[in-house]
Amino acid sequence: MATLVQNELNADVMMKPERPANGSAVIQVQDVHKSYDLGETKVHALRGVDMKIEPGEFVAIMGSSGSGKSTFMNILGCLDKPTSGKYILEGTDVSSLDKKQLAAIRNRKLGFVFQGFNLLSRTTALENVELPTLYAQTEKSMRQARSKEVLELVGLGDRMGHFPSQLSGGQQQRVAIARALVNKPAILLADEPTGNLDSRTSVEIMQIFQDLNDSGLTIVLVTHEPDIAQFAKRTVVFRDGKIRHDDPVSNHPRAAEVLKSMPTVDED
Ligand SMILES: Nc1ncnc2c1ncn2[C@@H]1O[C@H](COP(=O)(O)OP(=O)(O)OP(=O)(O)O)[C@@H](O)[C@H]1O
Ligand SMILES: [Mg+2]
Repeated sequence: MATLVQNELNADVMMKPERPANGSAVIQVQDVHKSYDLGETKVHALRGVDMKIEPGEFVAIMGSSGSGKSTFMNILGCLDKPTSGKYILEGTDVSSLDKKQLAAIRNRKLGFVFQGFNLLSRTTALENVELPTLYAQTEKSMRQARSKEVLELVGLGDRMGHFPSQLSGGQQQRVAIARALVNKPAILLADEPTGNLDSRTSVEIMQIFQDLNDSGLTIVLVTHEPDIAQFAKRTVVFRDGKIRHDDPVSNHPRAAEVLKSMPTVDED
C-alpha cells in the first residue's frame, strides 16, 4: 500500500482553536535577545528578533546551523525565556509567567513536533497520542475518542495499537503530529520534522501540514530544505541570531500535487 495519506483530512474534525476576540496576532515577538552564559564565554544566540504571526499563517524558518532557529522555536514554544524583549502569545505576555503557568500554556495552546519523533517506545500509537490529554484533565472516554480522531486525521486509523518500532519513520512522525494536535492547540511548532525522512515521506508530512493549515491551524516550521520551505506561505531566514529575510511564498506548490509526480514506495 502506498504511504499516501488515505483519509481526506476533514476540516470539521480539526476543530478551529479559539482566536483572540480582537483578531490580533497569535504571536508577537519584540526585540527578543537570548544569550547563554557559559562561564568565560557568552553565546548571543538571538540578537534582536521582531516577528508577528497572524492566525492561519504557515511560516517556514530557515537559516544555517547555529543561526538561532531552535533557540527561537524554544522561546515560541515557552520551553525557554528570552534574556530580554517581549513575547506575546495570543494576547498574553509570556515573559511574566512562572514555570507552572508556562507549562499550562504549553499544554493548552501549543503542539510540538520534533525531528526525532520523541515517542515513548513501550507505548502504542494510541497511548502516545493520549498522553498530553492526561494533563488537560479531559474525561477518559473523551480522551480516547479524541486521540482516535486525530490518529484517523493523520491516516493512521489502522495502526493505533502498533508500537513505534512497528511503524515506519513517516508513520512515527504522523503519530507525533497526532499527539501534537490532540489538545487542539492554537499553534503547531515543528523543528525539522522531515529531517529524518526520505523525500517522498517528507512531502507526505507537508501534505498533512498544508491540510491542517487549510483548516485554520497556525504553523511554524523549521527546515534546512528550501524544497520543504516552499510548501509554507511565508519564509523567514535567520542569520547570526537575526532575521535577514521575511518573504511571502508566491505560488507555493500543493504537496498533494507534488506527490503525484513522485515515485511510490510500497510499504506492506
Ligand atoms: N543551551 C545552550 N547553551 C549554550 N549555547 C547554546 C545553547 N543552545 C544553543 N546554543 C548556541 O546558540 C546558537 C544558536 O543555536 P540554535 O540551536 O538555535 O541554532 P539552529 O539555527 O537551530 O541550528 P541547527 O540548524 O544546527 O539546528 C549556537 O551558537 C549554539 O551553539
Ligand atoms: Mg536547530
